[in-house]
Amino acid sequence: MKDGYKLVGFQYELTGTIYSLGRIPRCKTAMLKYLKPGQKVLVAGVGHGTEAIEASNLGADVTAVDLSETMLKHFRKRIARENPPREIRVVHDDIFNIKEPEQYDMVISNFFLNVFNETRVKEVANHLGTLVKPDGYFVVGEFVLPTSGLPGLIQRLNWYLAITFYSSTTEAVFHPVWNYPGLVEGAGFGIQDIEYFTIGGVKMYWSILGKKLPK
Ligand SMILES: C[S@@+](CC[C@H](N)C(=O)[O-])C[C@H]1O[C@@H](n2cnc3c(N)ncnc32)[C@H](O)[C@@H]1O
Repeated sequence: MKDGYKLVGFQYELTGTIYSLGRIPRCKTAMLKYLKPGQKVLVAGVGHGTEAIEASNLGADVTAVDLSETMLKHFRKRIARENPPREIRVVHDDIFNIKEPEQYDMVISNFFLNVFNETRVKEVANHLGTLVKPDGYFVVGEFVLPTSGLPGLIQRLNWYLAITFYSSTTEAVFHPVWNYPGLVEGAGFGIQDIEYFTIGGVKMYWSILGKKLPK
């Protein structure tokens, strides 16, 4: 199986935390407040697993999926170190091989959709949507869609610095920021909540909560 993060996976969590002055880890866990103990959560492209461990700490039944053995090695180390109360199901596979329709109360995609090209990202978002139970939640944590003026310039700089590094060191594709609320809606969800994470008053990251709409 391809390991796109073999070279840079080790530094991913720490660098993201420093680069965002602590905003990215907060963004990843923001929507866990909607979770109830015992609910089923799937974390797609889990990486080092900040939100997966926190969800387990909150009493959720967590499945975490990632294609990169390097990322999962760091995630497993973290599980061993932090010892979350409930066993986390760790799946080393492509997210498209997770064929468990309507099995999860919450599907979380943090900084995962941004690795795909324009066509693929819609397919991934739609696939993730199928895994959510009726009335369940789809959570996307990401870089904000740049606005106009100086804030827009800062937001673009923030995104392009990150994607320039990761598109040259991993399989992430170089592209502009996608419209993540649009992708959540396109997958059959209504936007219920958005929390922003700012630096110097500029919105940099957002956590978007979609609730599944009736068919
Ligand atoms: C940009 S990293 C984000 C990691 C983590 N969610 C975070 O916020 O720290 C993207 C992750 O998605 C994983 N990934 C990429 N394509 C994947 C796929 N098709 N199926 C499962 N995981 C995938 C990568 O291995 C990587 O760990």
